[in-house]
Amino acid sequence: MKQSKIVGIGHFVPENVVTNDELSELMDTNDAWITERTGIKERRHIVKGDGNSTSTMGTKAARMAIKNAGLTPDDIDFIVFATLSPDYYFPGPGVQVQEQLGIKEIGALDVRNQCSGFVYGLSVADQFIKTGMYKNILVIGSEVHSAGLDMTTRGRGVSVIFGDGAGAVVMQATDEKDKGILSTHLHSEGKHAEELALISPGTLDWVDKFIERNDPEDTRYYPYMNGNFVFKHAIVRFSEVIMEALQTNGYQPSDIDLLVPHQANLRISQMVQKQFQLPDSSVYNNIQKYGNTTAASIPIALSEAWQEGKVKEGDLICLAAFGSGFTWASALIRW
Ligand code: UT7
Repeated sequence: MKQSKIVGIGHFVPENVVTNDELSELMDTNDAWITERTGIKERRHIVKGDGNSTSTMGTKAARMAIKNAGLTPDDIDFIVFATLSPDYYFPGPGVQVQEQLGIKEIGALDVRNQCSGFVYGLSVADQFIKTGMYKNILVIGSEVHSAGLDMTTRGRGVSVIFGDGAGAVVMQATDEKDKGILSTHLHSEGKHAEELALISPGTLDWVDKFIERNDPEDTRYYPYMNGNFVFKHAIVRFSEVIMEALQTNGYQPSDIDLLVPHQANLRISQMVQKQFQLPDSSVYNNIQKYGNTTAASIPIALSEAWQEGKVKEGDLICLAAFGSGFTWASALIRW
């Protein structure tokens, strides 16, 4: 059976930096609160008319990943696109990337697993490669949060956290043993679906009702998050799913060379780091610069870690995510 390995990584973030101080001009918040509770100092937001959208940023990240893999877009034979913020309600952005890359009519699959979306996408690509169906798969995570946040004091518990950006990898089939993706682990617990969700519009609350009700007091069209509740579950699930990946492959936490956690909150990453007694050099965080970019956070972080020389041949890399659904997931990789 083939193994799959990551042969190229890329990312793209919009130029426009939004600092905590700038947010405090829009709502009752401040740099001290945001820094202390989340570690975030700034995030990127697209600007209307700058050409950036979930699909176009995904395409830019994909181009970089393809280039870094030493391939051309025509070498790609399948696209997996993870996002919670597609350009359109449908179709999903996978097909837009196929068009924007100008490639042949390959399959494009959209993944809807929010913060765990990239790891879910990686797992899907891994299975397609293992079965021999595809050779080079593009896995993309991209989000535009800034277009849908409640930028008033009412929405501050959510809107200060999220940012825009995209990341991508190229996964390739290999005959090398014990290399590449060692295992992936996917979970969900739908009873908590509404603890971190955007309820409307949807087919249970369709557009005519949504428009009728469209007054400033109606919060259903903004993302809702029960922050404390989500935080507590995140700590537990991150730890569980990292342990699951290690145990499946006969490793200990101390064997991890680099943990790249979904960038949900610096406090969450630090608590997980402490629990597994990992040194600072073994955990990669960049939430300080970008906020939480949901499906894009892991590939952006992995791309920056790789650029900084922190992802080396032979390293044991663990990716772990938790988010809306709830969903959580991990992947263990021998680089
Ligand atoms: O990526 C998907 C998964 N997401 C996560 O894992 C995120 C999990 N949750 C969190 O990261 C944290 O719960 C938050 C960062 C969202 C919130 O931090 P917290 O320490 O749980 O704060 P809190 O919600 O308990 O709020 C504490 C206080 C409240 O005021 P009172 O009721 O104590 O007077 C909030 O109203 O802070 C207030 N507050 C703010 N104050 C200034 C909430 N948001 C803000 C804000 N600026 N932006």
